Amino acid sequence: MTVHKVGYLIGSLAKGSINRKLAKALVQLAPPELEMSEVSFKDLPLYSYDYDTDFPPSARAFKDALAAVEAVLFITPEYNRSIPGGLKNAIDWASRPYGKNSFTRKPSAVIGTSPGAIGTAVAQQSLRSVLSFCNSPQMNAPEAYIRFTPGLISDDGEVSNEETEDFLRNYMTEFHTFIARVLSVLPPDA
Ligand code: FNR
Repeated sequence: MTVHKVGYLIGSLAKGSINRKLAKALVQLAPPELEMSEVSFKDLPLYSYDYDTDFPPSARAFKDALAAVEAVLFITPEYNRSIPGGLKNAIDWASRPYGKNSFTRKPSAVIGTSPGAIGTAVAQQSLRSVLSFCNSPQMNAPEAYIRFTPGLISDDGEVSNEETEDFLRNYMTEFHTFIARVLSVLPPDA
């Protein structure tokens, strides 16, 4: 069995984040071929290209963590119809310095939850544009717009609704298939 390392970024910095609950569920429902680890960005300063000649330790650690994984999963809320500023800041760090973009050729997928009826759809479209520019091959389908209702996912990542649990398990199985397919034609060291 080939195991692929997947780093996941949770777009929310809130302690009670519903997207963190979703992340816990996805980790538990992932197939054994995916080794999941969180890539934290909470300690990054606000990016400026003034740092490009000398990244601070937190940004080096962040870039190293991305270099150590073969694929990236974004689990993000929608804030004001886009992704939270902290996540965009992290992506800007990852994309630089010029020529050292951490996302180039790295397969990715996007998912998110919100109490709203369209479950982060607008934020996800915005993120997809950013990832396209960053040259990350993205899983196009299945899309996953999860409408969060009270108790849907516990703090421990237990999903109370069987249909949602099956959907999330299938999403992770599809992500595994996508990663294996992309890496078979675009090996990380090519
Ligand atoms: C929101 N929320 C929200 N929801 C949504 O569906 N579309 C939106 O554009 C916004 N905008 C927005 C802006 C800001 C600044 C906040 C704090 C919240 C509500 C949001 O979905 C809800 O707070 C979720 O709990 C956010 O997910 P996390 O941070 O708990 O993972």
